[in-house]
Amino acid sequence: MKRRALIILAAIFVIGSILGSVAVSLDRAPSPVSSSVGTSSVSTSVSILASTPPMGWNSWNKFGCNVSEDLIRQIADAMVASGMKDSGYQYVVIDDCWQVDRDSNGNTVADAKRFPSGIKALADYVHAKGLKFGLYSDAGTKTCQGRPGSRGYEYQDARQYAAWGVDYLKYDWCNTSTQDARSSYETMRAALEASGRPIVFSICEWGTSRPWLWGNGIGNLWRTTDDITDRWEGKSKPGADCCSLGVTDILDRQVGLESFAGPGHWNDPDMLEVGNGGMTTAEYRAHFSLWAILAAPLMAGNDLRDMKPEIREILTHKEVIAVDQDPKGGQGQRVRKNGSLEVWSKELQDGGRAVVLLNRGTEAGEISASWEDLGYPSHLSAKVRDLWQGHDLGERTGMFAASVAPHSAVMVTVKP
Ligand code: GLA
Repeated sequence: MKRRALIILAAIFVIGSILGSVAVSLDRAPSPVSSSVGTSSVSTSVSILASTPPMGWNSWNKFGCNVSEDLIRQIADAMVASGMKDSGYQYVVIDDCWQVDRDSNGNTVADAKRFPSGIKALADYVHAKGLKFGLYSDAGTKTCQGRPGSRGYEYQDARQYAAWGVDYLKYDWCNTSTQDARSSYETMRAALEASGRPIVFSICEWGTSRPWLWGNGIGNLWRTTDDITDRWEGKSKPGADCCSLGVTDILDRQVGLESFAGPGHWNDPDMLEVGNGGMTTAEYRAHFSLWAILAAPLMAGNDLRDMKPEIREILTHKEVIAVDQDPKGGQGQRVRKNGSLEVWSKELQDGGRAVVLLNRGTEAGEISASWEDLGYPSHLSAKVRDLWQGHDLGERTGMFAASVAPHSAVMVTVKP
C-alpha cells in the first residue's frame, strides 16, 4: 500500500515537472520553432535574436577582398553620421578575406597588414559607436576566397568570435565537398550556443539544399539564392546557371517561400546593391521597396562614406524601413502578375497592408491593386499613403491604381 502511494506521488511529481518545463519553455520562446532541433535551449535563444530582419552593412558587394580596419572604422563612423544608425542599421559585418591563416594552436589569424590592431580592438571600436560587429567564415575547409574555413574548428572559432565580441556570423558554403548542409550548420549553431554569446547566425548556402525547410532553429536568416549582382535583371554569366543574379531574378525566386519566414528566422535574398552604381535611382528605390516588402534582412552593400543624397534617402527611408521591420514578421507575396506589371502585398501588424506596384518592363504602365488581391472585401474604405512621396492619398474603396514608370515601383500602405 505504502509502495503504491509512493509510486503515485512520484508519478505526480514527474508529470508536474514536465508541465512546468513546458510552461517555462513556452514563456521563453516568443515564436514557434522547429521541433527538429536537438535541444530546446538552442531554439529558444535563436528565436530571441533577430526578432525583426537584421539591418546593417556588409563589405562584400562593394569592397570584395579589399577590407581593412581603417575601412571598417570609417564605415562605422559613416553609419552614425549618415543617419543610418538612427534609421535602424546596427551590424557592421566584415565578409571574406579578413583571415589569412591558422596559428600553431589552430586559432584563426587575421591579416596583420590590413588589421594591425587586431579584431578585438576593431569590435570594441564598433561597439563604442553603439553598433554591433560581425564576421564571416565558411562551413568548409576554405572560404570562397581560399582563406581558412571553420570545418573541424567550429567550437574553437566560435569561442574566438565570442572573445572578440562578435555579434553576427555569416557562414558560407564553399569548399564543403560532400558535407551535409543541415548538419554542418547545426554544428556551428551548437558551437555558437556553447560560446555563451548571443550571435546572429546567417546561413549562406545559396538555397542549394532548401534551407527554408530546416533553417528555422539553426540560423536567424538563410540565403535563398546565388549572389546578387548590381543590375536590374539577368545573370552575370549569360547562359550559365550560376552565379550572380539581378534584382528581379532574385525576386522571382522568393515566390513560394513566404510561409518560412518569421521573427527570428528570415529568408535572405542577399545584401543590398543600392548605391553601387549599376542601376538607376528608380531601380534602387524599387530594389529597396521589394526587399522591405519581403521582410528581407537589410544589409547595405555600398560605400557609406560617399553616398549621394538620393541614395542616403533611399537607405534611410523610415516609412519603408518600418514595413520591413513590421513586428508581425510576415513576408510579402506577389498577389498579381500581368506580364511585367506586378502587385506585391504584405500584411502588417495593425491589419493594414504594405503594397508595391512593380513595373519590371521598359514602358510606363497602369497597375491596380484590388482590395480582393489584398485580402479585403471590395466595399471597404481604406486610407492610402504613398511612402516614397510621403503623403496621404486619401480614402479609397475597392482598389488603388497608379501609373508606374519603367523599371520602377510605387509603394503605399493601405489602412482600413
Ligand atoms: C559567396 C557568398 C558571397 C560572399 C562571397 C565571399 O559567394 O555568397 O555573399 O560572401 O562568397 O567570398
